[in-house]
Amino acid sequence: MRSVDVVEDAFVLCEDGRISAIGRMRDLEPLGREVEELDGSGCAAIPGLVDCHTHAVFAGSRVHEFELRAGGATYEELHAAGGGILSTVEATRAAGEDGLTHLLALHRSWMLASGTTTFEAKSGYGLDRDTELAMLHVVREAGGSPTWLGAHALPPEFPDADAYLDFALAEVLPQAAKIAEAADVFLERGAFDAGQARRYLEACGAAGLRLRLHADQFTEAGGIPLAVELRAVSVDHLEATGPGGVGALAGSDVTAVLLPVAALFLGRPMPPGRALVDEGAIVALASDFNPGSAFCESLPLVSALACTQMKLSPAEALAACTVNAAHVLGRADRVGRLAPGYAADLVLLDAPDWRHFAYHLGGRHVARVIRGGTPTA
Ligand code: NIG
Ligand code: FE
Repeated sequence: MRSVDVVEDAFVLCEDGRISAIGRMRDLEPLGREVEELDGSGCAAIPGLVDCHTHAVFAGSRVHEFELRAGGATYEELHAAGGGILSTVEATRAAGEDGLTHLLALHRSWMLASGTTTFEAKSGYGLDRDTELAMLHVVREAGGSPTWLGAHALPPEFPDADAYLDFALAEVLPQAAKIAEAADVFLERGAFDAGQARRYLEACGAAGLRLRLHADQFTEAGGIPLAVELRAVSVDHLEATGPGGVGALAGSDVTAVLLPVAALFLGRPMPPGRALVDEGAIVALASDFNPGSAFCESLPLVSALACTQMKLSPAEALAACTVNAAHVLGRADRVGRLAPGYAADLVLLDAPDWRHFAYHLGGRHVARVIRGGTPTA
């Protein structure tokens, strides 16, 4: 994670949406054909960023809860009182597929402007058949990687989590498995327990989905052992993870996806990022962009937190939200690197050094974003 090759005075040649060559400008042979040139003099180019954990399809706002939390209410209290995730469920159910398409396009434009060229987004704010499938569908239509978060919270019309899972696995999974690439569960006190998470994930795995977990956000409730046993792709959050969990992840192929904005936003301890990297775990960083625990779309800001709060180096942070995040999405052979054959996704930083992507805290240093060889806004 610490190896970054820096090329000074570089060119990146893109053809048909892919990178065809990279090198020093002085070594660039005459091309003998028309090229459109984008002058990046004085800028640093890094790979287009990969956000492997977002809840970018949502309606409504939770600014009221943000204010209540500033006054001392906790996230778990708001959730237990029927607010939190369930208030976003109400707004998302009411938005309709067209409404969700527009809202995702808006959120996507914020993410793109911050340098995110590849994104994952979860369902989990529908928790009924039609809204869950609509959420997955709009993510797919927008070019994202859809994850079925069918076990996010218990919707009010079901008496208990087991009854809800009976419904979700029988009525939603067969269609969800055709649209989604992965399945996710919120394993936590007040959400789904380890037994319920196992049942959900085993069914999703049998339906061909990659497996992911929200775990150890508030309590260590068995998420890491379950992830390792079920060969999940990732376990995400880990604010409450202790040394045993770090060791278990380090000895596994499960990626630890760290979401430092969620920790900051809810006033939780940071996940043990330094220990995970030092012990040899696969570590990725993501925004967790959502209206409740992380209203933030910026991977440069996430990376700033990773460096300042978790003591990752800028190189480690860059690897964590490019190559390693691409690995989580099963796209490590296509995105996340500036290398021939990879998608021509680049971020041009208005900065003299690539490390400014994490150094400039909350800055406006993302100057240009190129996706598939095409400059975006
Ligand atoms: O990753 N913790 C569970 N799910 C989301 C938050 C969802 C919400 O609050 O709306 C998370 O933090
Ligand atoms: Fe999340």
